[in-house]
Amino acid sequence: MRNSSTRIRLIEPADAASIAEHRVRDVEAFRPWEPAQPADFFTSEGQAERIDRLLAGYQAGLVWPGVVLADDQVIGQVTVGGILPQPHLRRGSVGYWIASVAQNQGHAGRAVGLALQTMKDELGLHRAEASTNLENLPSQRVLRRNGFSPYGVAHSSILLDGSWRDALLWERILGD
Ligand SMILES: CC(C)(COP(=O)(O)OP(=O)(O)OC[C@H]1O[C@@H](n2cnc3c(N)ncnc32)[C@H](O)[C@@H]1OP(=O)(O)O)[C@@H](O)C(=O)NCCC(=O)NCCS
Repeated sequence: MRNSSTRIRLIEPADAASIAEHRVRDVEAFRPWEPAQPADFFTSEGQAERIDRLLAGYQAGLVWPGVVLADDQVIGQVTVGGILPQPHLRRGSVGYWIASVAQNQGHAGRAVGLALQTMKDELGLHRAEASTNLENLPSQRVLRRNGFSPYGVAHSSILLDGSWRDALLWERILGD
């Protein structure tokens, strides 16, 4: 799917090297916002194993694992996780990151918009959820721009950079 200069597609095994390269470069920049990861997260081999697991989850209908592309280069990931396809639930949770070299150009905002279209049209979901750190204002801007509203705070919800942090919870209703 394409929106202006941003495209998303399902992740592929061949994306492992690009993702590892970004995550090695951005390890310090992402430390306040993303959980600590094991050493193999920062290698192509470790990312390839992770991609295999994501694609197995996709085959099982539990996750839609995407990459974000600009000029056909992988610049980040957008993932719909926690998919509950049951007719009375039909919800999923959106997560994303954009490499520091490509930030503040609108890519996350457009990628989340494309992911919401996928959730509605391809996955048939009714409700989208997300969570952000209370201080992660860029991520909150991305969600607000895509019609999400904050609906609560989950206390002591995620271990980030050595301390348990509260999470701001977001929702967007996609349709019927
Ligand atoms: C959060 C993140 C995905 C945003 O990606 P991005 O491609 O830079 O996002 P966009 O360019 O689409 O939008 C960023 C918005 O934040 C705003 N912004 C940037 N720095 C800001 C700051 N310090 N304070 C407040 N707003 C800020 C931009 O102006 C823009 O808002 P606008 O749409 O109103 O102009 C990226 O910074 C990232 O990956 N961070 C590290 C990992 C992370 O936080 N993941 C999300 C976890 S919930």
